[in-house]
Amino acid sequence: MNARLRPDDMATPAGQLAYALRPMTAADLDAVERIENAIYDFPWSRGNFADSLTAQYHAQVLTDAADTVCGYFVAMPGVEEMHLLNISVAPPVQGQGLSLLMLDAVALLSRADSALLLWLEVRPSNVHAVRIYERYGFYPITRRRDYYPAADAQGRPCREDALVMSAQVGDLLARRGLRPA
Ligand SMILES: CC(C)(COP(=O)(O)OP(=O)(O)OC[C@H]1O[C@@H](n2cnc3c(N)ncnc32)[C@H](O)[C@@H]1OP(=O)(O)O)[C@@H](O)C(=O)NCCC(=O)NCCS
Repeated sequence: MNARLRPDDMATPAGQLAYALRPMTAADLDAVERIENAIYDFPWSRGNFADSLTAQYHAQVLTDAADTVCGYFVAMPGVEEMHLLNISVAPPVQGQGLSLLMLDAVALLSRADSALLLWLEVRPSNVHAVRIYERYGFYPITRRRDYYPAADAQGRPCREDALVMSAQVGDLLARRGLRPA
């Protein structure tokens, strides 16, 4: 399903919709792969996205007025919970609050799926992302040791812990003033 976004958040001053969210399809994978490779040192493979589509996870792309993909998220439903696996915004449009629009969509999708808890993993070194999640209402619950592939200062392969963050879906919706349809 498509999450409902507040038109004010996505509109230009002229009133045209600047961004929209729609389900990711196989036709989006070239664009998604390009963005993924541009923003992560250890990107998801194209196969990871294709598998997410096959598994019918919630996968949506954020598109501009020309239907160019400029962000995306993938979330895996579980029993009364939703696991946000990937949320990404293309470099040219980072810093415009688009992550909040996608987090809103994930929160609304979670409620529509009757998920009570939303959780995610993030690299502690990704301070911008951690700050965004904290401000959005996520709180740290634990660390997974050596979860992510990483590289040390000399470029040698190593591992990085994951910070696991979580939030009650109802709390997030209330904080953001979002009402499910
Ligand atoms: C993290 C990410 C999803 C945030 O999306 P976004 O749409 O750029 O974020 P927002 O515009 O909502 O930014 C929210 C805040 O974070 C800051 N911010 C976000 N990305 C930043 C960056 N790369 N550098 C500096 N500040 C950044 C914004 O300036 C803003 O701060 P402010 O509200 O104090 O002005 C996006 O930057 C991204 O895709 N980064 C690379 C991939 C990634 O780290 N994904 C998350 C993995 S868990």
